[in-house]
Amino acid sequence: MKIAALVVALALLAGCGGKDDALLIQPPAVQATGARGTFEHQVYPELQLTCAFCHAAPNNPVHAPQWMSFDAKSSYDNVEKFDGLIAWPDNSKLLLKGEHTGPALTKAQKTTVHAWLLEESNERGLEPPPVEKPSEPPPLTADEALAQFGSCMSIDDFKATKAFELAYQQTTGWGPCRGCHNSGWAGAFIDDDAQLMFAQNRLKPFILKLATFTTEKGAFKDMVPAHRFHDKGSEPCAYSGDQTVLCHPKYVPLPEVADGLDAYFTATYDRWKKAGGACK
Ligand code: HEC
Ligand code: HEC
Repeated sequence: MKIAALVVALALLAGCGGKDDALLIQPPAVQATGARGTFEHQVYPELQLTCAFCHAAPNNPVHAPQWMSFDAKSSYDNVEKFDGLIAWPDNSKLLLKGEHTGPALTKAQKTTVHAWLLEESNERGLEPPPVEKPSEPPPLTADEALAQFGSCMSIDDFKATKAFELAYQQTTGWGPCRGCHNSGWAGAFIDDDAQLMFAQNRLKPFILKLATFTTEKGAFKDMVPAHRFHDKGSEPCAYSGDQTVLCHPKYVPLPEVADGLDAYFTATYDRWKKAGGACK
């Protein structure tokens, strides 16, 4: 680990002179400043490497929401418009999403995105509002709400509602979900060990396939169903051209499984509300 870091550091040092020269000859007038500047110069190059492939694909019938584009400036404009991205870091879907059809941000990317979101929050006054009365609990972040929601899930509901039977749901030609998802591929954990599947689905990123959240002015608002298990099987392929071999298997959830997942969400939501988030 240390040696690898050293090699990277040396490589950076070696390439440093050239880079600085390139920066010097750029006209300063066109450089965005503040949080926008941070996005354009530090965040965009990272997202462009790992996320643009799906999230900036104009004229492509991909299902991935188009919150980026292929240059820094219009990406920023898009990111600004997309709900739930620019928010207090613990409320931002950019940081919370984790592994899905696309990869999770790496640790280093997270650090960059986190710092930029703090800058945005400061500029826009998006911090969770200060606690007026010390007797009141601090405002909940989306990250905390997800953790609470997970802790409010019950294995009895999971089995009784038949949500668990997703483990046996068949796809067209590719067998049951658990054949591919029994170790959490793409942030979807589906296994015929009910206890294991239950436990994993209480945690990020797996919980986000069942439950997600809404935000308002960068603050957490409420938990809502994510419907990823319902919708995945009938969505257009997330890939195009040569990549269509990667298309997800098709399926229509059995009615009892679809209803079971809804009932499981509702039972959890009700318990979460009733307990004021403090399920044990
Ligand atoms: C291979 C394609 C692909 C790549 C690459 C990809 N994504 Fe996605 N992303 C998707 C798809 C498909 C969806 C819609 C389904 C879903 O919500 O999981 C999505 C949805 C999202 C959402 C919206 C979540 C919501 O609840 O509205 C966020 C945020 C996101 N991705 C972040 C990222 C980040 C950050 C990266 C880069 C580290 C990335 N994605 C890379 C395919 C991709
Ligand atoms: C042949 C292997 C395979 C089978 C069977 C399979 N999946 Fe997937 N699944 C994948 C792969 C690969 C990905 C990541 C690429 C993608 O999102 O298309 C994925 C991603 C997902 C995601 C996360 C991404 C998103 O869009 O939210 C969900 C949810 C999901 N699958 C649900 C299911 C369900 C439910 C079943 C069973 C009815 C199932 N899958 C069966 C291979 C499979």
